[in-house]
Amino acid sequence: MSTVHRVVFGNCMTMKEIHDESIQLMVTSPPYYNAPFDYPNLFKNYDEFLSLISYLAHDLYRVLAPGRVACFVTDDMLVKGEKYPVVADITRLMLDAGFRYRDRIVWVKPKGYVRISRRSGVVIQHPYPMYYYPDNIHESILIFQKGRFDYSHLRELDPKSISKSKISIYDYHNQEWYLTVWNITNVLPLRERLEKGIAAFPEEIPKRLIKLFSFHGETVLDPFLGSGTTMRVAQELGRNSWGYEIDRGLKKIIAQKLEYKHGLDSRVEFLFRRAPKESRASAPRRQRPSLSHRDAVTPRLRCLQLFQ
Ligand SMILES: C[S@@+](CC[C@H](N)C(=O)[O-])C[C@H]1O[C@@H](n2cnc3c(N)ncnc32)[C@H](O)[C@@H]1O
Repeated sequence: MSTVHRVVFGNCMTMKEIHDESIQLMVTSPPYYNAPFDYPNLFKNYDEFLSLISYLAHDLYRVLAPGRVACFVTDDMLVKGEKYPVVADITRLMLDAGFRYRDRIVWVKPKGYVRISRRSGVVIQHPYPMYYYPDNIHESILIFQKGRFDYSHLRELDPKSISKSKISIYDYHNQEWYLTVWNITNVLPLRERLEKGIAAFPEEIPKRLIKLFSFHGETVLDPFLGSGTTMRVAQELGRNSWGYEIDRGLKKIIAQKLEYKHGLDSRVEFLFRRAPKESRASAPRRQRPSLSHRDAVTPRLRCLQLFQ
């Protein structure tokens, strides 16, 4: 079966290119507010970040099919000595938009992976109370649902699609997918990796979520596409996909990622929204595209690129 993958270069706070209830699963990882290593000063302040998530949550409710699932990979973030409750706030905003809170998986990275290792070392220098700052080796995978899934819908699905969507019970048991803690290695900082400079998540995360919450031939959305990890996995698993990305400079990397698997019958389309005159926040550090949270949403097809 051939699949279609559409990348819109524009702000995901509105996703007007997508029809109502035409998405069966969202898997995404937004910027973690102004994460010091990846997105310093991306947002003017925390309220601006929350406003983006709130707009997204409401439009997501529109595009997601009834009963379907939306997953955020995210974490609380320490910025200039203050810890921001990103996980709690995304949960609240998703509930406010009408979603049900279904589950939280804790993604645990290997112990060797510590970016701010000097944090916990303070106690070694000052072995007294009040110097404790632990190193973080986990993130949250928040799972929300739009109402409840109607299992009678399975009768309408093509039996071939159902059989291709079968979950491997071997993986489910051996890799402990059934637990609320998933031990998964993060993207390793190899020199030749495509995701250099992008806070990419490992393929294993969208792989599990896509297998667990969508059927073969359905459509997956990633509104913060980054290097295109979700899209690549969707392509590999025979799902269609939509992605939004504000940084036009990532087109080459996304294209490379999707080209990677030869022999897959899929088509990739890049759509560029018309850039408004005014530009403002929410632009990644690498380059400041002329789009703001409130950018024009009229899609204009400037480039259509196909890979077979
Ligand atoms: C954490 S990264 C996503 C990484 C992705 N999961 C991957 O594996 O490559 C977040 C991405 O969201 C993009 N972004 C930030 N604000 C955006 C917005 N308002 N609309 C669309 N994309 C946005 C950033 O440019 C960045 O590439």
